[in-house]
Amino acid sequence: MKNISLAIDGPASSGKSTVAKILAKEFKFIYTDTGAMYRSLTYLAITHNVKFNDEAGLVELIKQFPISFKQSEQGQLVFVEKKDVTQAIRQPEVTNAVSEVAAHAKVRKEMVTLQQKIAEKGGVVMDGRDIGTAVLPNAEVKIFLVASVKERAERRYKENLEKGISTDFETLQKEIQQRDHIDSTRAASPLTQAKDAIRIDTTGMSIEEVVSAIHQVIKDKGYS
Ligand code: DC
Repeated sequence: MKNISLAIDGPASSGKSTVAKILAKEFKFIYTDTGAMYRSLTYLAITHNVKFNDEAGLVELIKQFPISFKQSEQGQLVFVEKKDVTQAIRQPEVTNAVSEVAAHAKVRKEMVTLQQKIAEKGGVVMDGRDIGTAVLPNAEVKIFLVASVKERAERRYKENLEKGISTDFETLQKEIQQRDHIDSTRAASPLTQAKDAIRIDTTGMSIEEVVSAIHQVIKDKGYS
């Protein structure tokens, strides 16, 4: 496998992180979950009483408390202030506020700089909303994953159950729609498909089928 950058974008629960992790493991690439970075910042804002609309305060938090990833047998762990926040950043309190935090242009500028640094040597699989458009516009392979709201809510519902978080299905659907709306209509690098990204609708597809569709894209582009 060539030392390329693979950008995987798409809306909430479109399956990005699941397939990105599988591909990174297979190619022995660095996996970066950029959503986890915005989630960690939201967690920091909650624990340090910084308001979600306080752009300067949020930027200060990014500078003061570096976010780091560690590989472990249970998968990738996320740390801030030497604390493992992997579970905490998936709680509904964070999930429902993260779109507001991620909408600030100055917050995004800081995050994009950090993400570009992680990817500077290539050999990376990065997932998020703006990877193909803003973070890695020159990525060799760009994938844009989509799925129906109903299917994404079902996936999130199952994921939450596995983590012991009980949620109402209708509420989940509404929250996903709300996040889609904020993520796609914000002024600073909204969720949009890069012109050169390959769109895959994963509704009704298994994880294996999505992974294999991406393999095909990589092969077609001559990188495998
Ligand atoms: O993928 P996720 O659900 O963990 O992402 C959490 C939020 O972070 C999502 O609502 C949008 C935002 N996000 C973003 O704006 N840009 C990224 N590159 C990744 C995530």
